[in-house]
Amino acid sequence: MAIRVGLFFGGRSTEHEVSVITALGAYEHLDKNKYEVTPIYVSKTGDFYTNPKFLQLKNFKDVDSLLLSSTKINFSKGGLNSGGFFSKAITLDIAFLFFHGSFGEDGVIQGLLEMYKIPYTGFNVMGSAVAMDKVISKLVFQALGFNVAKFVSIGRNDWIKDSKNCLIEIKKKLKFPLIIKPADIGSTIGINRAKTDMDLEFNIEVAAVYSDKILIEEAFEGCIEVNCAALGYNDVIPSLCEMPIRSGETLSYEDKYLKGGKNAKSTGMASLSRKIPAPISQNLTKKIQETTVKIFKALEGCGVARIDYFVDVKKEKFYVNEINSPPGSLAFYLFELLPIGIKYSQLLDRIIEDGLKRFEDQKKTQYIFNSPLLSQMAKAGGIN
Ligand SMILES: Nc1ncnc2c1ncn2[C@@H]1O[C@H](COP(=O)(O)OP(=O)(O)O)[C@@H](O)[C@H]1O
Ligand SMILES: [Mg+2]
Repeated sequence: MAIRVGLFFGGRSTEHEVSVITALGAYEHLDKNKYEVTPIYVSKTGDFYTNPKFLQLKNFKDVDSLLLSSTKINFSKGGLNSGGFFSKAITLDIAFLFFHGSFGEDGVIQGLLEMYKIPYTGFNVMGSAVAMDKVISKLVFQALGFNVAKFVSIGRNDWIKDSKNCLIEIKKKLKFPLIIKPADIGSTIGINRAKTDMDLEFNIEVAAVYSDKILIEEAFEGCIEVNCAALGYNDVIPSLCEMPIRSGETLSYEDKYLKGGKNAKSTGMASLSRKIPAPISQNLTKKIQETTVKIFKALEGCGVARIDYFVDVKKEKFYVNEINSPPGSLAFYLFELLPIGIKYSQLLDRIIEDGLKRFEDQKKTQYIFNSPLLSQMAKAGGIN
């Protein structure tokens, strides 16, 4: 019998569009003989819809009218159901999550699925939440013994209350040029460079539009960027390393997704220019691959994630920048060229298998405890 897979994508996130592209790119490679696919699209307002039309990118030309012809759905135990008089149950064997950014990559949807006992792909609630937060994840990378950029984190409310003091604090600890980032979004949205006090102030204001926490870090100069992915659940394997090619000082949204002009068929992160394998020594490649697997496991990884690094080639030194779970286009291009050659469709099979395995493992945990506490207290006459 076919496995019933819900493809979840879109979402109330600045990376909504990127999520649609990742999901529909993967759909093309899903084995339709093995899987019965139901698309679950989350609108920018955070509502859940289904409609077979969501499976083709060309239908997204006019999202408002697409939604009018779609069925709104709600969660129910083990799946979803369409509301109203003709309510229909959609039972799912697994939710395949393709979200990037808020409410999807950060543990929120994962928590909802746990409550409804629906198996899902990718990182669990804890791993997703830590991976999404660039400040907390840096603290974890450091605790694991890896190098990271020198950084300061400030809360938006502290900035609003006393920006002068925040600036003093930042300049006491860090040296220009600086990179300013919203702490918990991706795709280079809201990320800017500062060379002067004025840039710094302005770019903190920009980052504060997108997050209530702002990360300020020293810019790496003379370093290349190297990314490496990991795949698995109990058995985890690293991918090849890639060097993404940027057109300016920073790898931009345009570099990542809009290369090739307006009319080009975008394939999301897959269309970024890159060098595979990255031009670094074998020794460094091995160290980065080992680090990737270590971090993946520390975050109780499942499915696929990509970790981004800065590498000082001359000093043979690397710094961990961030982790993406799931990465744009699921980083399929980093697994295809491995000596064992994992095809895109096989990558998808493994991500689904891993999600199902984790769900089975959860059944080993007892979540309730039979306690005489309430009945005893009730007999004794209540709390006082
Ligand atoms: N400390 C840094 N020094 C230099 N460039 C940086 C630094 N941090 C980020 N960048 C640039 O900004 C890009 C996006 O930053 P990143 O932390 O990877 O966030 P995102 O989640 O948006 O990909 C990086 O790929 C890199 O080009
Ligand atoms: Mg990145």
